[in-house]
Amino acid sequence: MALTTLQTTDPITRFPPDFVWGVATSAFQIEGAADADGKGPSIWDRFCRRPGTIADHSDGRQACQHYLRWEADLELIASLGVNAYRFSVSWPRVRPGGSGSWNEKGMAFYERLVDGLLARGIQPHLTLNHWDLPDELQAAGGWAARDTVRHFVEYAQGMAARLGDRLASITTHNEPWVISVLGYETGVFAPGIRDRAAAMQASHHLLLSHGLALQALRAEGGPAKLGIVLNLSPVHAATASLADLARARLEDGRLLRWYMDPLFKAAYPQDVVEYLGADAPQVGPGELSTIAGRLDFLGINYYARSVVSAAGPWDVHSSGREITAMGWEIYPEGLTELLLRLQRDYPLPPIYITENGAAFKDVLVNGRVHDHQRTDYIVRHIAALAEAICLGVQIEGYMVWSLLDNFEWASGYEKRFGIVHVDFQTQARTLKDSALWYRAFLQRQMAGRAGGPAPAIGA
Ligand code: FCB
Repeated sequence: MALTTLQTTDPITRFPPDFVWGVATSAFQIEGAADADGKGPSIWDRFCRRPGTIADHSDGRQACQHYLRWEADLELIASLGVNAYRFSVSWPRVRPGGSGSWNEKGMAFYERLVDGLLARGIQPHLTLNHWDLPDELQAAGGWAARDTVRHFVEYAQGMAARLGDRLASITTHNEPWVISVLGYETGVFAPGIRDRAAAMQASHHLLLSHGLALQALRAEGGPAKLGIVLNLSPVHAATASLADLARARLEDGRLLRWYMDPLFKAAYPQDVVEYLGADAPQVGPGELSTIAGRLDFLGINYYARSVVSAAGPWDVHSSGREITAMGWEIYPEGLTELLLRLQRDYPLPPIYITENGAAFKDVLVNGRVHDHQRTDYIVRHIAALAEAICLGVQIEGYMVWSLLDNFEWASGYEKRFGIVHVDFQTQARTLKDSALWYRAFLQRQMAGRAGGPAPAIGA
């Protein structure tokens, strides 16, 4: 389908009138102000200083200077016409050591942000843990240590007590698979540990702290919907060989069932437990039923499918499909496939797509970024989402990753995911063509809302 067709023809005529349309960011990737106003160091502050960890040797000390420029950034978000903004709180900004005293200046920043969103008619969707654990807690073992669970629950309670009455949703953790596997097993992300047993114990502590935090937040009451965000993909075998199929099943277990089964079935998948052997986590009595507490929503971050081969890494070029600057294959139908599979296998709550987007080699020329590939990516994924809705999956929101070009973890500033371009020298923000498309698309969506009942999906 040509892009020109896509620009004039929306993926579907109308999404439901109360559909949540947003943009997403995370604290460490945009805020900068690494030690301003009493903020403590996070594991990412430390990790960036370790030689060889970040592709362009950069760090998050400045990032998008959002801590200073938050008000102009709120105007930017409002100008897009979204009705939701997903952001995260930097735990060491509000509680520098992870436990102990709270930092009022840090708290006040998030209060201004939330009030500023509400004043502009934008729902605040807050994530508690988007990876920047207070460094002091890492010194005591980080997520591999049981005490971190208790500290996280206290942190969740503190944030809910301060802001809970004004939030549309609270997410406990963003992508526990990434924290556990990339942080503790392969070590390519902070804290840079290579120990599979520690990784699996960390994954269990993340899930347990999620369950306990949800219990504590429910007890406090408040309007915010409570949930967790997982990075999920369909896992395909590179060939139909028995070895590849077995490998794909194991990967599906480690990526998807390892999180979905405890959350929705109060059990870890037996095949993965057996595969892990002595590296399987210690699980205390009653902990699995705590993890499986009721969710108000499940957040899903979707970027690509995963293809595995028993012989070694799969060559992403072999499918002949387009790939992004991250080297990720563009595979929108994987989103529909994933959602239908989850619907088949689990008793799902409403779903938000909390991240979806792509990095490309953007160029800013005369104040414009013609990022047609990004627009095309977003359009095709919204269409895949619409198909899942038509097939009966209850999806209530979609958020583009990301609002701004930002610090893309181990890739530094080399990979640009924003629908808004950031010049990291001047901090100038420029709407890319994808942002202009999103704004026009949302205007058409919202226009349908004003004039009586919206036509059915697919009409
Ligand atoms: C996700 C992260 C997000 C961003 C995107 C590209 O895994 O949640 O912070 O880095 O990938």
